[in-house]
Amino acid sequence: MYRTELLHTVSQICSSEKGILAADESTGTIGKRFSSIDLENTHANRFAYRNLLFQCENIEQYISGVITYEETLLDSTSDGTRLIQPLLDKKIMVGIKVDKGVKPLYNEDETVTQGLDDLDDNCKKYYEAGARFAKWRAVLKIDKDKCLPSDLSIHENSVTLARYASICIQNGLVPIVEPEILMDGDHSIEYCAKVTTHVLSNVYHELLRHKVDIDCTLLKPNMVRQGVSCKDPIDWQKLAHFTIQSFQQTIPVSMPGVVFLSGGMSETDASIALNEINKLKAYKPWRLTFSYGRALQSSVLSAWKGKEENVKSAQEVLLQLAQNNSLASQGKFVGKNEGCKSLHEENYVY
Ligand code: 13P
Repeated sequence: MYRTELLHTVSQICSSEKGILAADESTGTIGKRFSSIDLENTHANRFAYRNLLFQCENIEQYISGVITYEETLLDSTSDGTRLIQPLLDKKIMVGIKVDKGVKPLYNEDETVTQGLDDLDDNCKKYYEAGARFAKWRAVLKIDKDKCLPSDLSIHENSVTLARYASICIQNGLVPIVEPEILMDGDHSIEYCAKVTTHVLSNVYHELLRHKVDIDCTLLKPNMVRQGVSCKDPIDWQKLAHFTIQSFQQTIPVSMPGVVFLSGGMSETDASIALNEINKLKAYKPWRLTFSYGRALQSSVLSAWKGKEENVKSAQEVLLQLAQNNSLASQGKFVGKNEGCKSLHEENYVY
C-alpha cells in the first residue's frame, strides 16, 4: 500500500553526497554523553541539544535523514512548534528508533533486541507524527574462544530484524536493518569478514523468507575491520576490500543503500574508512554512505558544553563533520588521521 512512498523515501535518503545523522540516543544513553561534558540529563538540556543539531544552517547539504528518539519526534515548545520542524522545513527525512534495546538471550554473552510487541501501533503513531523511516539495532559479539556469535543468536536476531522490517513496511516506514557486529575483541579482520558474511547471509535469508521488499529497505552494518584490541596496524584498503567482498557475497543488488554505523571509531577514522570503501574499484551496486552517531556528535558536544553562547561554534563543528563524511561518501575526503580519540565503549548500548 505504501510502496511508492517507501521507494521515494529510500531515494531521498540515498541522495548522492548525503548521509544520515543518528541522533536517536535513548534518554539513558544521552545522559552518558552529557556526563562527558558535566551536563545534567534534563528534558530542557536534551531539547536544547537536539534543537542545536536540527537548526544547524546548511546541514541539508550533507544530511538527508536524521534518526530521532521518541521523545524528540513528539516534542514541541510551549507555543506548539515541533522540535523536528527545522528538519521538515529543510526536507530532511525524519527517522525513528523503534527498538526497545537488548535483553540477554540466555546469559550475559549474547542478546536479542526487544520491541516487536507494540511495534505495529508504534509505527502508526510515528508515521502520523511525520517519521518516514525507522531503525532497529541487533547486536552481535565476536568471541572466538566461545564460538560467538552463536548460530542461535544469529538466527534469533535475523528473524527479529525481518519481523521488524515487515511491520515497518506495512506501516509506511522504510526499515533500516542494523545487524551490528561489535568491534570489541582482538580478532583479525579476516575473522570479522567471515562472521560478517555469515551474519549478513542469514539476515537476507530471513528478510526474503518474510517476503520483505528488499528495495524498500536500507542496511546499516558494521564495516569489516579487526577487533579494537587486535595489535595489527589498521590497513584501510584491506578494510575496504574485505567490507565490499563480504557485501558482494550477501547483499542483493536490489538493496538500494548501505548506511554504515561508526561503531566507536574516532570521527576521523570513520571518515577515512568510508572514503576508502568508496574509493575502492569494485562492483558496488549500492549507495555506500554514513549513518553515524558518535562520529558525528562527539566533538559537537565538547564544543557546546551545554552553553547557549557555544551553539554557533558547535554547529560549525557539526557542519564540518557532516561535510567530511559527505566527501567520504564520494571517495573525496582528504583529511588525515591526526590522533583523534577512539569513541569505543565495550558492549555499547544505544
Ligand atoms: P554509532 O555511529 O555511534 O555507532 O551509532 C549509530 C547508531 O545508530 C547505532 O545504532
